[in-house]
Amino acid sequence: MWTSFIGFMASGKSSVAAALGRGTGQPVVDLDREVERRARLAVPEIFRREGVAGWRRREADTLLALARRREILLATGGGLVEAPEARLLLRRRGLVVWLDAPWEVLRARLEREGPQRRPLIAHLGWEGLERLSWRRRRLYAACADFRLRSDRDDVAGLARSVLLRSLVWRRRGHGGRA
Ligand code: S3P
Repeated sequence: MWTSFIGFMASGKSSVAAALGRGTGQPVVDLDREVERRARLAVPEIFRREGVAGWRRREADTLLALARRREILLATGGGLVEAPEARLLLRRRGLVVWLDAPWEVLRARLEREGPQRRPLIAHLGWEGLERLSWRRRRLYAACADFRLRSDRDDVAGLARSVLLRSLVWRRRGHGGRA
C-alpha cells in the first residue's frame, strides 16, 4: 500500500514523507526528484525546454513507472493532481494525505527557499500562484482521504499523525483498495 502526500508547493510533502520514512523504514519516493533522475535534467531546465505541458507529461510517465512498487511513501509535486488519471492512481494505490497551509504561510516558505527550484514562481508571479493555490484546493480535496494542517512546521508531529491515521485506515480494511 502507498501513502501519498499531495498539496501545494511548500506544504511539507517531502519533509513529512521523509520523516515518516525514517520512522517506519518504508521507502520514500520524491516524485520531482524521480522525474529529474529519469530526465537527467533539473526541474527548471525541463520547464525551460518543454514548458508546463512537458513537465506534466514526464510527471505522469514517472508515476506510471512507479505503479508496480508495492509499499512506498510518495511525495508528489503540487501539480500532479491536475491529471484525473493521477488522482485515480493515487487513490487506487492506498492512502492519500493532503497537507494544507494558508497561502501566507506557503508564500513565506517559498520566499525563504527561493525561486531556483520552482519555475512556476517566476512564470505566474505571486498573484497567479495564489490563484492557482485556490483553484487546486478542490482537486486536493477530491483526491485526499484526509487533510492535515501543516502550518506549524511540526514535521515529526505530522508524520506521527499520518502513521496513526494509516494504521487505523489499514485496520478498517482499506489497505486492499489497490
Ligand atoms: C509544481 C510543483 C513542484 C514541481 C513543479 C510544478 C506545481 O513540486 O512539481 O515545479 O505545479 O505546483 P513541489 O510541490 O514539490 O514544489
